[in-house]
Amino acid sequence: MEETGVNSSVTPPDPWAEVAARLGADLFLDLQPDPEASARGRGATLRRTLTEALRSAILDGRLPAGTALPPYRSLAADLGLARGTVSTVYQELIAEGWLTTRQGSSTRVADGAAHPDTAVNPTDTQIVGEEPATPPTFRFPHDFSLGQPCASMFPRTDWIRATRRVLTDVGDEAFAPSHPQGRPELRRALSGYLSRTRGVRTSADRIVLGTAVQSALELLSRNVFGDSLAVESHGLPFHWQAVERGGTRVIPIPVDDEGMVIDELERSDASAVLLSPSHQFPTGVALSPARRMQVIEWARRTGAIIVEDDYDGEFRYDRDPVGALQALGPDVVIHAGSMSKSLSPAVRAGWLALPPRLVDIVLGAKGLREPDASIVDQLILADLIDSGAYDRHIRRSRQFYRQRRDALVDAVSASGFEVPGIAAGLHAVVPVGHADEHTLVHQAFGRGIGVVGLSLFRHPDADPLPNGGLVVGFGTPAASTFTTDLQALRDLLAVSPAARRVVP
Ligand SMILES: Cc1ncc(COP(=O)(O)O)c(C=O)c1O
Repeated sequence: MEETGVNSSVTPPDPWAEVAARLGADLFLDLQPDPEASARGRGATLRRTLTEALRSAILDGRLPAGTALPPYRSLAADLGLARGTVSTVYQELIAEGWLTTRQGSSTRVADGAAHPDTAVNPTDTQIVGEEPATPPTFRFPHDFSLGQPCASMFPRTDWIRATRRVLTDVGDEAFAPSHPQGRPELRRALSGYLSRTRGVRTSADRIVLGTAVQSALELLSRNVFGDSLAVESHGLPFHWQAVERGGTRVIPIPVDDEGMVIDELERSDASAVLLSPSHQFPTGVALSPARRMQVIEWARRTGAIIVEDDYDGEFRYDRDPVGALQALGPDVVIHAGSMSKSLSPAVRAGWLALPPRLVDIVLGAKGLREPDASIVDQLILADLIDSGAYDRHIRRSRQFYRQRRDALVDAVSASGFEVPGIAAGLHAVVPVGHADEHTLVHQAFGRGIGVVGLSLFRHPDADPLPNGGLVVGFGTPAASTFTTDLQALRDLLAVSPAARRVVP
């Protein structure tokens, strides 16, 4: 190893495994030195091999444009190579345009160094060390897709503090397999929180914890719903699919501007019903007081079960918050919720507040141990609620989304439209004619705007709603882009002939 100046008497069996492992945290370089080369020839080979390896890493996307390379001295030390060798390789690659450097700053991969035709998906390459951070996902430049709150609102600092407190204080038993009902700390905290903020009438022993509304529906359909579940004619297809996977038939019931038409429910043979009474998804209407009473009476009369999906109950922006339906009928309503909208869908934490007679049935169905949910996260969430951090986060978020909603309403009305429905949640519907919905969604895609049409949420056996609509998720855009995203939406609505035709 004359070239390296170190380890001169010991030749490692495969020096290039070392090289590969050390060049950056997660980059594999396929370097094959020629074992037959003379010592002098070996120096040239090393240089050439390193040059080639860096070029191919740039070409195949493992070193994307802008990536800072380590200073040549450090890289040389890391790889056990002479500084001159690495410096020469950097100089050559700079001269060829693969790398760039400026006085006083690091050497970086040049913009456009990798031809797009030759770049491959970084996840296809062999990675040493960690998995790639995120799988590739397509994102619209102006992303109003549904199903997530604004990522920058996630209370990272509170979560870190809560984690530290929990892991400092909790006993070893927390790391054993856990009871399927979930940690009592979170059940206690949630029962207080849900009764304080949503009027839910429950207690820790009636709550069963899990990961999400979706998985809860699958569990309930296997064990609680009976033959058939009525659902709102427009809703989340993957919720219906979860129910059908559990073996329950799904019956769509029309919705109007008072929510589900309960007269139609009464005419069906459903043994259970799934409702989003606070903020119907996706139309955004609230179930009217008369229909609330009517559905509770129907359940009591027929022995049916109501599942209340309270998916964004915390986010109501007018002065007239609507409490949970469960408060009217804790004997017949299962109140289902999760942290997917209030914190993040990446936090897989959900709950069921059950009528007393269903607790053992649901627990029996879950098995002896908690199968899916993170017990450590349950403890962290309990701490967040008990410390008041969760309430603060919700208040902050409500304020943030209220401003977003107001800005959205302003932008949309500046283009001649209204956003009807109650002021709540993380999405709004801009009504357009049916024929125009498809055109507008298409045009939106063409402009890099991610919105979906209302018809996407129609159950295949249900009649269309009287109007079509654009469903705009205003929680999703990043804080840094929201203003320009909104402008793009406004421009779309303002110039689209399809849109103008439906101005009321
Ligand atoms: C209508 C509706 N229900 C429930 C949820 C919560 O989803 P989950 O708890 O299954 O992640 C969402 C989230 O997007 C939703 O839109």
